[in-house]
Amino acid sequence: MAEQTPEQVLEDIGAEVRRCSACRLCEKRTKAVPGEGALKSGIMLIGEGPGFNEDQQGRPFVGPAGKLLEEMLAAVGLHREQVFITNVVKCRPPGNRDPQPDEIAACNEYLDRQLAAIDPRIVITLGRFSLARFFSGAKISAVHGEPKFADGRAYVPFYHPAAGLRSPAIKQMLFEDIQKLPAIAKRLKELQAQGHFDRQEADSADAAPDTEEANTDQLSLF
Ligand code: URA
Ligand code: SF4
Repeated sequence: MAEQTPEQVLEDIGAEVRRCSACRLCEKRTKAVPGEGALKSGIMLIGEGPGFNEDQQGRPFVGPAGKLLEEMLAAVGLHREQVFITNVVKCRPPGNRDPQPDEIAACNEYLDRQLAAIDPRIVITLGRFSLARFFSGAKISAVHGEPKFADGRAYVPFYHPAAGLRSPAIKQMLFEDIQKLPAIAKRLKELQAQGHFDRQEADSADAAPDTEEANTDQLSLF
């Protein structure tokens, strides 16, 4: 059988998510929200969980927070279709309550598989549950906009756009932080060129040129 493309892998994950009953959030959902977008930019954004509008439509960030997110992306010349957008939990917590640890744990496998399929260069975390997943113990007020370079990627923590809707100061920080993306992409390329990422260095010599080419292509938006 021919190997699946990353897009096909993501389609399959999406289909599994839509019929998933691995945690109690399946009981009250209208539609599950697997996530959507393109892979070529190499940018993946990870929010918390679907809200009312997302649950109705089965799509991530389509309410007021999504509108702000789209404005942020536009500030660096990006459109939402060019990035991949998903959440830590794929089904809406009733009344927008916090997702519970066992729900996050149950859903984690999908996010792991999405990360593996997309293999993004830049991962933007939106809000504290996404932060906790990649920056254990970090406080958003201390780390927002500060990239962590690991796994051949830049992980960049952002405030949640919904917080930006409530606070003009946070909204301003969101726009300041997204403006750092071109410089972060540039730094990532430099680190890659210097062989900073051991895991990739350990790959076979044949694979190395491909990887480099793919990365250059992915970051060409900046
Ligand atoms: N907030 C989130 O965290 N995710 C969405 O998809 C929408 C709002
Ligand atoms: Fe499955 Fe995740 Fe939805 Fe829970 S939140 S039912 S684990 S898809």
